[in-house]
Amino acid sequence: MSGDGEQRFQTLHEIIKAARINLDQNIWDYLIGGAETETTVQRNRQALDSVAFRPRVLRNTAEVDLSAKIFGKQLRIPVTVAPVGSLQSFEPGGGGTVAQAVEQYGAGLCLSSVTEPGLEAAAVQAPNALKIFQLYVRGDDAWVDDYVRRAVASGYDAFCITVDTAHYSRRERDTAKRFVKTWRTYNTGMNFQAAHNWDNVKYFKDHHDIPLILKGIATAEDAALAVEHGVNGIYVSNHGGRQLDHGRGALEVLPEIVAAVDGRAKIIFDSGISRGTDIMKAVALGADLVAIGRLYCYGLAAAGKTGVVRVFELLEAELATSMGLLGVTGFAKLDKSYVHAAAPVVPPSVHSAFLPLLRLPEEGY
Ligand code: FNR
Repeated sequence: MSGDGEQRFQTLHEIIKAARINLDQNIWDYLIGGAETETTVQRNRQALDSVAFRPRVLRNTAEVDLSAKIFGKQLRIPVTVAPVGSLQSFEPGGGGTVAQAVEQYGAGLCLSSVTEPGLEAAAVQAPNALKIFQLYVRGDDAWVDDYVRRAVASGYDAFCITVDTAHYSRRERDTAKRFVKTWRTYNTGMNFQAAHNWDNVKYFKDHHDIPLILKGIATAEDAALAVEHGVNGIYVSNHGGRQLDHGRGALEVLPEIVAAVDGRAKIIFDSGISRGTDIMKAVALGADLVAIGRLYCYGLAAAGKTGVVRVFELLEAELATSMGLLGVTGFAKLDKSYVHAAAPVVPPSVHSAFLPLLRLPEEGY
């Protein structure tokens, strides 16, 4: 248990409120915001809320095992932190603090290439945890090779390349305040991210053994292409609605990708995950590993390592209860027979999973 965190935070929405109090307006808006109209952000919640459970009863659920194994590592729950840039703007220790929390709790670390400290310093804080390094491609294949060598030398279990950022989106919350994150101004030469293509994926697979994950796959067609190229992990995500606006809700995309992949690669899922029940829905629809983005950043901003550990503990508490009530004793047994399409009951928003108890007055909640 996280000790102080347990006393202080009994629900996830209390952590979000504490994060809001600790962060200035620019950083808060950078964290919660999405692209343009934020329709994709809202659809992420709408898609999750459009699934209802079909609970089974009179099964012995006295023991529920929430653990999972992926890329050779054991996890306490099938959850990893998603790669988030500028973690140091939420708490000075940034990725190092998150790595410590992940190690203490027993979740996965997916470290962004645009956060501090760098990949070596973060890795030593999480020696036993599942570790994935995420890269934005801002150089040629040789530039990527160098990162791969460093990640392998530091004990990372998989290498993730984000592919839904060919162009940086228009984040109007930030632009309206003329707020520009420094990492966006790196590398003013050739736009390697926009030029990145399947030939580079082939090159990667021909030259490296570390499992490769592509993050930001949003169609069955691209999932199939990725598998044909030997990609080991298909990361279904729309970047939390922060890239292409008017995309589909991520959960809506998941079934077609699971069908296209047909067990040939691991499925990682994020975008909109706010609750234990959201994790269960993603696993029921075929995800092997679920990532949280904004949610752990709230923990980091609210109370550093203790706050991140507490986010995991509260998710675990929600999972233990809801899995038992669903009549399922482990994630391996959770499949689509446990879910059904349903009409959402709340208007979707980035925090709609926490209404009505979360009150952030300046947002009109
Ligand atoms: C991100 N995301 C992201 N993705 C990535 O591949 N590399 C990165 O550096 C970042 N940076 C980043 C910063 C912030 C503040 C956020 C909120 C998100 C996207 C992230 O990995 C993930 O896909 C989304 O956060 C998932 O959506 P939720 O869980 O935030 O709704």
